[in-house]
Amino acid sequence: MKVIVADEYEIMSREAAKIVAAEVRNKPDCIFALPTGGTVFGLYEELIRMHREEGLDFSGVSTFNLDEYIGLPPDHPSSYHYYMYERFFNHVNISRDRIRIPNALAEDPEGESVAYEWAIKRAGGIDLAVLGIGRNGHIGFNEPRTEFGSVTRPIYLAKRTIEANARFFGGDSDSVPRQAISMGIRTIMNSRRIVLLASGTEKSRAINQTVHGPVTDTVPSSVLQLHPDCTLILDKEAACELEPSANGFVPGSGTKTMVY
Ligand code: PGA
Repeated sequence: MKVIVADEYEIMSREAAKIVAAEVRNKPDCIFALPTGGTVFGLYEELIRMHREEGLDFSGVSTFNLDEYIGLPPDHPSSYHYYMYERFFNHVNISRDRIRIPNALAEDPEGESVAYEWAIKRAGGIDLAVLGIGRNGHIGFNEPRTEFGSVTRPIYLAKRTIEANARFFGGDSDSVPRQAISMGIRTIMNSRRIVLLASGTEKSRAINQTVHGPVTDTVPSSVLQLHPDCTLILDKEAACELEPSANGFVPGSGTKTMVY
């Protein structure tokens, strides 16, 4: 597992954007899995800047979001539909018919999940999955004790996730939906490449367990140790509980790269 530790949040965001941009340039019709959450605000800002100033062309790209809250309409300001259009899609030249986010209003969330999983397969599979991480090690909304073999399906949010996400609902945890549709661990692990971003000391324990801990379903992100091409991009705070790596090197520009 490769770990890039950035001196600060902005550098972390730029490093992640460089990887996304390289994927788009190498394979203009590439397929992404995309996250939401506070950690990736800077990543989306940097990608928009690259589109405007450097002509980064998203016209052939397809995207599948990792998850969406069940019951929130797309125009709800706390929905992930709203987040994605406001923070990214409305500002780049991505084709609207290549954007997929789980339909949280589907009458049959199970059926919607099966269709979503098939749509990923039909598209040819995910080239690059970009992930955040929960304080409990969740990836997507795959909370502790999710089976590693899981695919896209309706899930219940963990209490810690509801509390952490209350900040996107005016601080009111009662307003946070209890269920979501999420890609599964297997869906994510089938991606050809994975990049996970984490920022802040509140993520440092989960990051320690992701890198050094046993591979266990009590820390879903620990499964990433088994992926052949996974990179963590962290700020110093999120990396503060990592042990030094014998293979560390400093490529410059405020980052350090370690291999575990
Ligand atoms: P955050 O969420 O970026 O808002 O911390 C990440 C996640 O829960 O996966």
